[in-house]
Amino acid sequence: MDERTRGSPDGGARIDPEYLRLLLLYYEEEIMGQGYFDALASANADPDQHAKLVLLGQVERHAANMVVALLGAYGLRPRDEAGLLSQGAAGADRHKNLGWVEFIHDMATSYPRFIIEFENLERLAPDADRPALKRLTLHEVLTIDFAERELARDPDSTQPLLSYLHVSPDA
Ligand SMILES: [Fe+2]
Repeated sequence: MDERTRGSPDGGARIDPEYLRLLLLYYEEEIMGQGYFDALASANADPDQHAKLVLLGQVERHAANMVVALLGAYGLRPRDEAGLLSQGAAGADRHKNLGWVEFIHDMATSYPRFIIEFENLERLAPDADRPALKRLTLHEVLTIDFAERELARDPDSTQPLLSYLHVSPDA
C-alpha cells in the first residue's frame, strides 16, 4: 500500500494527492471561517446582525463536520483548532468596519468563487466521498442564498442557514 492508497475508505482505489491536500485545507478553512464570523459577531452590538453572524459561524462549523469523517478515514490531521480559530478571527479585522449592507453584498458577490472550489474538490474525489462533499458545497450555496435574501430585506433571510444546521453529516 503506497501513499496514494493508504487509508482509502473506498477500498484502495488511487486517491489524488491534490484531493487530500484540498480536503484538509478546506476543512481547516471552515474552522477559520467559524473564527472569522464569531469575531465579527463579538464586534457587532446590533442584536439582529450579531445573531446572524453567530449563525454564519455555526454553519461554518457544521460544514466542517460534514467532512471530518473523511479526514479521519484518510488519516489527515488538521492544524491546531485554537490556532485556526484565531487565524480566522484575525481575518475579520479588516471587515469589522464595513457597513452591514456592504458586508452582505461582499458575501453575495465574492462567495460564489468558493462554490467553484468545492465543486472542483467533488470532481477530484472518489465516488464514495462525493455525498459528504456535496453537503460541504451546499453550505456555500445556502450562505449565498442567505446573503441575497438579506439584501432583499427578506424577514426569513436566515431560513437557508437554519435549514443547513438540520442537514445530518451522516445523511
Ligand atoms: Fe464556509
